Amino acid sequence: MKKKKKTQKPLTGQVRLARMADIFQIYKVIRENPKEVLPRSYQDLFRNFDRFLVYDEKEKIKGVISWQVLPGPIPDEDKALEVVSFSVRKRDQGRGIGSRLLNQMLKKLIKYHPDRILVLTFYPRFFKKFGFRRVSKKKLYSKIFLGCINCAKYPSPLNCPEVAMEIKLSPENKEEKKK
Ligand SMILES: CC(C)(COP(=O)(O)OP(=O)(O)OC[C@H]1O[C@@H](n2cnc3c(N)ncnc32)[C@H](O)[C@@H]1OP(=O)(O)O)[C@@H](O)C(=O)NCCC(=O)NCCS
Repeated sequence: MKKKKKTQKPLTGQVRLARMADIFQIYKVIRENPKEVLPRSYQDLFRNFDRFLVYDEKEKIKGVISWQVLPGPIPDEDKALEVVSFSVRKRDQGRGIGSRLLNQMLKKLIKYHPDRILVLTFYPRFFKKFGFRRVSKKKLYSKIFLGCINCAKYPSPLNCPEVAMEIKLSPENKEEKKK
């Protein structure tokens, strides 16, 4: 993420569900930020394109976001969803696209009634604005290890500099957030 604010072009596009025709553009937008976002294979994206929201401006995909389930060892205990593959094209960062995508994604995920929504990120300040709070990776080890299994950068998620964050959803605030 760039640090300095640049003159921002107004947002004229829309966040929408991904279509099959978007897959190659999604692939490319993910690969624009290799330091922060794990690459996804074309085949993987074909299988999972329906888990993506995209920001589309004049038929160009400028940002993408997706999610996955983090299964635990005990059925029905700690139902966690993770925000993944969140990437905005470098030249469009800082325009508000990421905020729109994350807002829409959170609205969508809350409808699945998870116990919590997780993210692993280098930019905790960004996610804090959306209600995410830091959580120890040790507490999530078994879950994030599954998510990190495809990353060859670090020997274990505990060595990785990414910060784990979560939004906890109690039965009451699941209802609250739906409004
Ligand atoms: C993190 C990311 C998805 C956010 O998307 P974005 O479209 O840049 O975010 P927004 O424009 O909605 O900006 C949100 C905040 O980020 C900051 N920001 C991001 N890029 C900025 C830029 N170029 N200039 C200034 N501020 C910027 C701003 O402080 C802004 O805060 P504000 O609302 O208080 O002004 C995007 O920067 C990105 O793709 N980063 C690289 C990949 C990555 O880290 N993904 C997240 C993995 S969990």
